[in-house]
Amino acid sequence: MDRIFNAVDLRRALGGAEGTVLVPTMGNLHEGHIDLVRQARQAGGPVVTSIFVNPLQFGQGEDFECYPRTLEADCDKLAAAGCDLVFCPSVTEMYPETQTFTVHPPLADQLCGAHRPGHFEGVCTVVLKLFNLVQPAQAIFGKKDYQQLYLLKAMTRQFNLPIRILEGETIRAQDGLALSSRNGYLTEAERAEAPRLYQVLQAAAVRLKQHDTLARVEAWATDALQQHGWNVDYVSVRSRNSLLTPENGDGQRVILAAARLGTTRLIDNLEVDVD
Ligand code: PAJ
Repeated sequence: MDRIFNAVDLRRALGGAEGTVLVPTMGNLHEGHIDLVRQARQAGGPVVTSIFVNPLQFGQGEDFECYPRTLEADCDKLAAAGCDLVFCPSVTEMYPETQTFTVHPPLADQLCGAHRPGHFEGVCTVVLKLFNLVQPAQAIFGKKDYQQLYLLKAMTRQFNLPIRILEGETIRAQDGLALSSRNGYLTEAERAEAPRLYQVLQAAAVRLKQHDTLARVEAWATDALQQHGWNVDYVSVRSRNSLLTPENGDGQRVILAAARLGTTRLIDNLEVDVD
C-alpha cells in the first residue's frame, strides 16, 4: 500500500487510474472507517483513503490540537482492509495560501452547524479539494455524520461533480454506542453512560411512530438525557429529504442528536418511517 504526502506524488501514483473510490477520513481509524474501506473495495476500482485532520472544520477551543493522530496504526489497518493508497497531506500542503477559498453550504447554521460555526464550511471545502486532488469516480461517507453526508451529497449534485456518493451504515459497539474517534476521550464512567444516547433515540422513534408531536418527542428525549447528566446541544426530528422540519405527510424522518458528557461531544441519529 502506497503512502503519499503531496499532490504531485498523488497524481503520479494514480496515473489517471479510472474508477477510483475515495474514503475521506481524519484518521484514528476504527471499525466504522474500516467498514467504509471494505465497502469501497467492493465498489470496484482502486481504493484511496485520505487521512487529514482538517483545521478548517474545527472551531476555536475545539480539539484540533489534541485530535488523536495514529498514522502507523491506521496504515496497518488500511493495508489489512485492502486499501491501495493512503493520502496523508500536511496542513501546508492542503492550505498553502494564507487566504483560503471556502465553500458555504446551506443548513450550515442548523443542527451541528448551530453549535459549531464554520464546521460545515470546513468540511465541504476540504472534501471538494480532496475530490479535485483524487478525482474519484465514487466516494463513501458514513451515516453516523448525517448532516455531513446530506450536505456532501447536495454539494456533489449542485456543483455537478461526476462522483457517485456511497453511504455506509453506522457501525456500533455491542452496547449500541456509535463508534467514534472521540469515544476515546470518555472516562470509564462516561463510557458506561454513553450508550444512553442511542437508547433515547430508539425510544424517541417509538414515540414518533405512535404519532406523538415532534416538539413533545424532542423535549422528552432532551429531558431523558439531561436527567443523566448530559449537556444537550439538540435533539431534532427532521425530514430525510430536506433535513428541515418535516411537512405533514412526509413520513421519511430522521432523529438527530448531539450532546456532551463532560467535555466530550457525541452525535448520533436514527432514521424512522412514520405512516
Ligand atoms: P472522520 O470523523 O474521520 O470520519 C470519516 C468517515 O467515517 C466519515 O464519512 C464518517 O461519517 C465515517 N464514520 C465515522 N464513524 C462511523 C461509524 N461509527 N460508522 C460508520 N461510519 C463512520 O467525517 C470526517 O472524518 C471528516 O469530516 C471528513 C469527511 C474526513 C472531512 O474532513
